[in-house]
Amino acid sequence: MENRVYIFDTTLRDGEQSPGASMNAAEKLRVARQLEKLGVDALEAGFPASSEGDFESVQMVAHKIERAEVVALARTAKADIDRAWQAVQKAAKPRIHTFIATSDIHLEHKLNMNRDAVIQEAVEAVQYAKALTPNVEFSAEDATRTDRDFLCRVFEAVIAAGATVVNLPDTVGYALPQEFGEQVAYVRAHTPNMHQAVLSVHCHNDLGLATANTLAGIHAGARQAEVTINGIGERAGNTSLEEVVMTLYTREDRLKLTHGIHAEEIYPTSRLASLITGIVVQPNKAVVGANAFAHEAGIHQDGVLKNPMTYEIMRPETVGLATNRLVIGKHSGRHAFKQKLAELGYDFSKSDLDRLFEKFKRLADKRKEIYDEDLEVLVVEAILRGSGTYALEYLNVVSGTVAVPTATVKLKIKDQVVQGAGFGVGPIDAAFNTIAKLAGSRSQLVRFSVNAISGGMDAQGEVTVRLKENGRVALGKGADPDIITASARAYVNGLNHLEYMKQNPSLTLRNSSV
Ligand code: KIV
Ligand code: ZN
Repeated sequence: MENRVYIFDTTLRDGEQSPGASMNAAEKLRVARQLEKLGVDALEAGFPASSEGDFESVQMVAHKIERAEVVALARTAKADIDRAWQAVQKAAKPRIHTFIATSDIHLEHKLNMNRDAVIQEAVEAVQYAKALTPNVEFSAEDATRTDRDFLCRVFEAVIAAGATVVNLPDTVGYALPQEFGEQVAYVRAHTPNMHQAVLSVHCHNDLGLATANTLAGIHAGARQAEVTINGIGERAGNTSLEEVVMTLYTREDRLKLTHGIHAEEIYPTSRLASLITGIVVQPNKAVVGANAFAHEAGIHQDGVLKNPMTYEIMRPETVGLATNRLVIGKHSGRHAFKQKLAELGYDFSKSDLDRLFEKFKRLADKRKEIYDEDLEVLVVEAILRGSGTYALEYLNVVSGTVAVPTATVKLKIKDQVVQGAGFGVGPIDAAFNTIAKLAGSRSQLVRFSVNAISGGMDAQGEVTVRLKENGRVALGKGADPDIITASARAYVNGLNHLEYMKQNPSLTLRNSSV
């Protein structure tokens, strides 16, 4: 059996189904480019039939990505498959991924179909997709709660119809590792034509078992792993790419499997995905969490100083951590700035570059050292997130032990500038209250968090807010060396996201449609 594991990244599709994590086309493209640099074999860019916005994002990614396969998801309906194909057909390596549920629970309560009808629908979908492209993946949704022999019948039929990859998802995160491994082995042994397709696994993390299940599936012979950066995804998330890849890397002695991932791009990719989606990585997250390589106990510190191997099974440099590259500073010119952005994968028009350079100079005046991560924040804020309905023009906050915290704000709403002042229990509360009043927002602040972007006392503060209004949840992010300004920016960014969701209701719909 082949010993190469194919890494299929679905950060831009299943990952984007994390509540509030929607990305616009420019943001998706930025993540896609980084995923390509990371070395993923395939990247699922979205679900084109779900919304016009998603269609455009997938199309944009398909046009620009050269090495990795670009995958579009579709239900079995012909209209969905057509839409998926329209979105990816210009890709260097396109793939259509079609799916239907196969468990009795879904057949009875969701699809209202019998088993034979499901097989027929799956076969017709695969045949239809196969007439468009040779590269077709089929997923049996809720496979882990599907009767094993029926699953084998489905896989046999879709492989005969032309599927080149068959995927076994643990859609609801229900399986146990040993059980999942046994199911994969069973399906391999009892699907007569399985050797004609790649067997894939796709796990959700509802019981915290996604990585263990994926590895059990690989151990049992699956050769494609469907994963997301930082494990983001529907509900408790999907299998995390970094955990699977670093297990293959660290335990190569035992697993004897290879993959195409450039491990040193793991941490930069994790940071970028977190920045763009607004989903903060928990500090104790394996491989990419802030504490993943921090040694607190004196006995551990002593050991690591003597020899890192005493308490470290992998080196932070291996995953690209601790390589915070100092890039440019106050005295750098436009040329160096442009060059650095090109290195990060950006190619901007002159006007965007001018706008960014001005912001960079302003930041460089405040900070001594500028890192790659600071530049990423600058780009995401100034360009990728677009202008939106609201823009913060001016903020002045008075606070202290005796003053009542007061904020004065000028807010641009489309083309009109409005201004006002307001109070709060603290300076951030005062700023938020004033902005909300000026924007006429009834949203509720349900989460607020601050992180330091790069090292040092003058590090930029990165603020994430989560705003809720009429059942819609939007994330906002902002960064600045001054955390009150960063907070106000994050709040305005969250309001822009909410506004965007109101104007594009299909976005909210999409998040619950698969
Ligand atoms: O979890 C799932 O079943 C999915 C399929 C669409 C592959 O995401
Ligand atoms: Zn999924």
